[in-house]
Amino acid sequence: MFVLLFITKQTRLKMAKILNIISSPRGEASNSIKLGNAIVEKLREKDPAAVVQVKDLTKNPFPHLEEAHLAAFFTPAEKHTDANKAAIKHSNESIQEIMDADIIVIGAPMYNFGVSSTLKAWIDHIARAGVTFKYTENGPQGLLTGKKVYVAVTTGGVYSEGAYKTADFISPYLKFMLGFLGMTDVTFVTAEGFAVADFQATALDKAIDSIAV
Ligand SMILES: Cc1cc2nc3c(=O)[nH]c(=O)nc-3n(C[C@H](O)[C@H](O)[C@H](O)COP(=O)(O)O)c2cc1C
Repeated sequence: MFVLLFITKQTRLKMAKILNIISSPRGEASNSIKLGNAIVEKLREKDPAAVVQVKDLTKNPFPHLEEAHLAAFFTPAEKHTDANKAAIKHSNESIQEIMDADIIVIGAPMYNFGVSSTLKAWIDHIARAGVTFKYTENGPQGLLTGKKVYVAVTTGGVYSEGAYKTADFISPYLKFMLGFLGMTDVTFVTAEGFAVADFQATALDKAIDSIAV
């Protein structure tokens, strides 16, 4: 009995947690959701016991940061009023989800050359001084460490070559921002050219084939 309990506990302790973040509102038609799901599938092939939590930011979108959020962010937790607590609830929950996850998969459709405002709003709610990063004598230090992140980027245009090569502001921004928060192990999987004749038919399959977990 003791041995069985011990083994069960050990197995439970080892279960990797994958947080799958969706930011496209296009449901089954979405290429970033398909690509993100393909990454999750490959991760689960490698680790069938992994537990997956899906967070669809389009179903419960984060608002732009308002005065109430900022007031709560910059008031110490022990002094929070009921209004502060209500304003900071979703931020706290999202940060806890990241802290609990071992692996984070982020679906990032390109909107106007950068991340969508849906994804940006989530970032605005998880980037908190003293909670997810802090300032030290040696500069800022990210506190969300020990995570592996995959970003599933999908674009209508082509950015790996040609005239728009410098116009992808998703990958550099997310690489920097996630690193700022401590998530430095980030792999980008990009499916590009969904609006370009020579690319669109093979864009998703090529990206899925390139997934290495
Ligand atoms: C509002 C909007 C803005 C977009 N802006 C760009 C853009 O600036 N550059 C680009 O290459 N594709 C752009 N696209 C195309 C999307 O990035 C592309 O269709 C992507 O596959 C969308 O991801 P999804 O299928 O997961 O929704 C835009 C699409 C929409 C709906």
